[in-house]
Amino acid sequence: MALHTVVRGVGHFVPEQVVTNDDLARLMDTSDEWIRERTGIQERRFVQNVTPASELGVHAAKLAIEQAGVSPTAVDYVIAATLSPDYYFPGIGTLLQHKLGLQHVPALDVRAQCSGLVYGLAVADSLIRAGAAKTLLLVCAEVQSIVLDFSTSGRDTAVLFGDGAGALVLAAEEGQSLPGPGNGVRGVIDSLLGSDGSGAELLCVEAPGSGTPGFLSQEVVNSAKWRPRMDGRQVFKHAVTRMGDTAEAILQRNGVGAEDIALLIPHQANLRINEAVRERLGLRPEQVFNNIERYGNTTAATIPICMSEAVEQGRLKQGDLVLTLAFGAGFTWGANLLRW
Ligand code: ACO
Repeated sequence: MALHTVVRGVGHFVPEQVVTNDDLARLMDTSDEWIRERTGIQERRFVQNVTPASELGVHAAKLAIEQAGVSPTAVDYVIAATLSPDYYFPGIGTLLQHKLGLQHVPALDVRAQCSGLVYGLAVADSLIRAGAAKTLLLVCAEVQSIVLDFSTSGRDTAVLFGDGAGALVLAAEEGQSLPGPGNGVRGVIDSLLGSDGSGAELLCVEAPGSGTPGFLSQEVVNSAKWRPRMDGRQVFKHAVTRMGDTAEAILQRNGVGAEDIALLIPHQANLRINEAVRERLGLRPEQVFNNIERYGNTTAATIPICMSEAVEQGRLKQGDLVLTLAFGAGFTWGANLLRW
């Protein structure tokens, strides 16, 4: 008998406040046309007042737990992924444990930025296969609006990001066979992860950090080092290459062809990135799920939000073969192949 990981429930939560491209164009020198053409984004959601990432995560987690039909006390492991934690430390894993009223279970924070879901799912699958967790809650939550620069000097990043959260309940199952591309057994089949830290400074928030003299000195406050900095063109090129290579590699090593994929759920950073990857893989448009037009880039949360909406819309059904794919700051990248 072999242990494997099945998605038991999924949920998502986005703040109510809709911010359109025109709203941003009133704050900085940009336009609806520029943002739509370059990114595919039409609007995004921003929190109002001070709403930390753990709060959005709690809402998404409750929905996932409800859909899974498990008691919160059954959760025996928490993995949280965010680049926008409530505090510098601790991470949000323990905050989720407390706010959700879970047992005193392990709470692990994953720092893989836009690859948070693919890394988190890969780690969760390893824990479950090793017998270390039976009901694992994976929460991806981001509040990014608070750190963006809404003047013209910050327009290259401010128009891209949004706030939101998605969560999965993952359950251990024991069966005669492990999930495989050809056998119809539900669950995580394979994950493929990678990183290249030489790209760290091409997309980062540099300070405060232990590499910054004075940590939070007046000089740091006056500089823009505490805001996201990105070389968009470089990140774009790396994203297209790494996402395409990773997808091809995981499909090839599992003997899966483009036609076998029911749904590709890529990270939502830029519609042009996802179109380039779709074309390279030879997938039809209906084989790819995108919702960047409504939420922008919610970093770790994009893929679980897509999963949750795809289920709601009937585009993701039990038994479907799904490929997730992400690239993000670090650089980090990865994919998961699973039968939903
Ligand atoms: N509105 C109007 N003009 C703008 C804006 C804006 N919001 N932002 C930049 N511009 C200008 C630039 O100043 C530049 O002007 P110039 O030619 O006079 O210098 C011009 O538009 C073109 O800028 P580019 O950066 O070349 O535009 P590009 O087509 O590359 O699109 C974008 C920029 C959308 C940021 C793109 O590079 C991109 O999506 N990159 C990848 C983002 C990504 O994948 N991030 C990874 C995940 S994020 C994470 O992990 C946290």
